[in-house]
Amino acid sequence: MQTQFSSVVKGWAMEPTEEWWRQGAVCQIYPRSFADSNGDALGDIAGITSRIDYLERLGIDAVWLSPFYPSALADGGYDVADYRDVDPRLGTLADFDELVAALHARGVKIVVDIVPNHTSDQHEWFQEALDAGRGSAARERYLFREGTGPDGAEPPTDWVSMFGGPAWERVADGQWYLHSFAVEQPDLNWANPEVRADFVTTLRFWSDRGVDGFRIDVAHMLTKDLTEPLLSRSELDALPVDGLHPMVDRDDVHEVYAEWRRVFDSYDPPRTAVAEAWVHRSRVPLYASRDSLGQAFNFDLLLADFDAAQFRRIVVDNLELAEQSGSSSTWVLSNHDVVRHATRYGLPHPDRDAGGAPVRKHGTDWVISGGVDPVLDRGRGERRARAATLFMLALPGASYIYQGEELGLHEVAEIGPEDRQDPTFFRSEGTDYGRDGCRVPLPWTASGSSFGFGPDGAHLPQPPWFADYSVEREEADASSTLSLYRRALALRRELQSAERLAWVDTGRDDVLRFRRPNGWEVVTNFGLLPFVLDRDDALLTSGPLDAGALPPDTTVWFGPGNTY
Ligand code: NOJ
Repeated sequence: MQTQFSSVVKGWAMEPTEEWWRQGAVCQIYPRSFADSNGDALGDIAGITSRIDYLERLGIDAVWLSPFYPSALADGGYDVADYRDVDPRLGTLADFDELVAALHARGVKIVVDIVPNHTSDQHEWFQEALDAGRGSAARERYLFREGTGPDGAEPPTDWVSMFGGPAWERVADGQWYLHSFAVEQPDLNWANPEVRADFVTTLRFWSDRGVDGFRIDVAHMLTKDLTEPLLSRSELDALPVDGLHPMVDRDDVHEVYAEWRRVFDSYDPPRTAVAEAWVHRSRVPLYASRDSLGQAFNFDLLLADFDAAQFRRIVVDNLELAEQSGSSSTWVLSNHDVVRHATRYGLPHPDRDAGGAPVRKHGTDWVISGGVDPVLDRGRGERRARAATLFMLALPGASYIYQGEELGLHEVAEIGPEDRQDPTFFRSEGTDYGRDGCRVPLPWTASGSSFGFGPDGAHLPQPPWFADYSVEREEADASSTLSLYRRALALRRELQSAERLAWVDTGRDDVLRFRRPNGWEVVTNFGLLPFVLDRDDALLTSGPLDAGALPPDTTVWFGPGNTY
């Protein structure tokens, strides 16, 4: 057998138990859709606490809560009106403290989301900025500029926001403010020391309440150079993104994170952070380094097909990046921004839209740009999703699981225009169906008005097929996806090994096999033909084996045996 070392960890402790975040399994909770305790159809903090047994039993090391702060929900809570409070619809700070205590009592850490690029337009700073008028200190916390054209009635530039439409909005006195995302999300001015100081206060506020770490939203966009004259969109697009680009991935953003690092390290144990940074791979280590945020998301698997060559390339590349930064890699198959992976793998590929997600469902049809309506093969999607998950969970580094994927949940397509919430849908005038389909409240029971999500309804419509994916049904079924995740996560703890792997030659391009240093071995069949195994001591499989062979779309784990 031929082995090949892919990654060696340098500089940081390698022992799996030493720093939980290096190889932790983290469950992302989208609080408004996890569990509702008070019957307002919106998930809440007490709802999460009420499901603490479920979270413990899942076998994760940490939960990451997407924003639960006061918000007008223009962008699912990523429009924060107050960074140091809980949305009253989701509970109180006392509820939050209770959740932290409950998680910690079960040995589960908690990571919260920090959204520093923009506030909500409901934030008191923005309201002050509107009242105070041009030239005021209040406006200096944001990025206000004069318009162009007669009376400044045209926006300062032709820039477009991430959610579609212009990136500038005009206020009553005629000035314009920059919003890289929704109109209701004005960008902050990170050149302003007051902005910097306030986020330090926020990080301390949550750290003092016992939060173990932070997920940093659009970490690559905080600092900007808006020196006049502003460049046009095409001029900006033509510039290299090399650390000096006016708008994204600027080197000086790491000055912000160096200050944050001092905050994190002033706690015992140090607080952790993970960057959501959509940057060129060569620049990821800057965010993941110990001097900056310490870890960065790797989203490559979100964008990949179920394909051996792509998966292998992604693993090799990201272990190399981890080696460069001294951090560990992260792996993500699903999150609150993309089509769930059970669905992605059940659709034909490579039919992808420009954003990298495959297709979005509208009404009853899956629509690929170009007008084709592909058929979703649910069974195939689920088999592949389970296989990909077992592959991911065995990789060196941290694995992120998005609520509901442990049930094998599919994207919900059956959401009418009147029920949609995502600004992407509205800003694109309905051509991009947005992210609501992966944010539908979870089914806990097979019946009831909201499948046990809460006493009265769910804020996004749940389809009838949710019954089959309910926790209630899956708990009672040893072959369910939930049972598989529970067994896999429990075993993963026992099997966890130093942060490297060696590839084992399989003689087939469509079958990947790798081994961790303690001999934990993984084989995934991405192909169309069964793969005959040379071992019969499987510990766990994502689907049934077939007379000693690994069927297509299946992964098997073997226990330690051959070490290296
Ligand atoms: C990234 C988040 O994941 C996404 O949900 C949000 O819309 C944008 N950042 C803007 O905050």
